[in-house]
Amino acid sequence: MAHQHTFVMVKPDGVRKGLIGEVISRFEAKGLTLEQMRMLTIAEEMANEHYGEHAGRPFFPSLVEFITSGPVVAMEWSGEEAVSVCRTIMGVTNPVEAAPGTIRGDYALEIGENIVHGSDSPESAARELGIFFG
Ligand code: RTP
Ligand code: MG
Repeated sequence: MAHQHTFVMVKPDGVRKGLIGEVISRFEAKGLTLEQMRMLTIAEEMANEHYGEHAGRPFFPSLVEFITSGPVVAMEWSGEEAVSVCRTIMGVTNPVEAAPGTIRGDYALEIGENIVHGSDSPESAARELGIFFG
């Protein structure tokens, strides 16, 4: 068990659906600490950097188009095992398979529009926090 920091983002669909408060509430209710937060519209260059691991995948162009399609809310959260705890609260990538009670399970239906992003490891968290808050 380790105290960790992680990067979480309300994606453009989450902002459009009015779910910023709902997303924040779930992480707060769990006992995680909100360390930093900013609202911005991601430029294409920043999207390519953030999702660089997926460059070349068939869905990459639509992923970049989507993540740059409107404002997002970027956040740093901390707490015990924060990386995996945040991913559990979010639910699995495909909302069709995400369990009820998770954010993606409760508020999304399409894999390309799944409301939130969360770092998948402490190393990814450090890299992504550097992109958005460095
Ligand atoms: P995220 O990075 O956004 O938190 O999502 P994730 O870790 O759960 O999933 P990841 O594998 O990193 O994929 C990033 C985003 O790309 C879209 N995606 N589409 N059509 C597809 O097969 C496909 N696979 C992934 C999703 O929107 C996913 O959140
Ligand atoms: Mg990911």
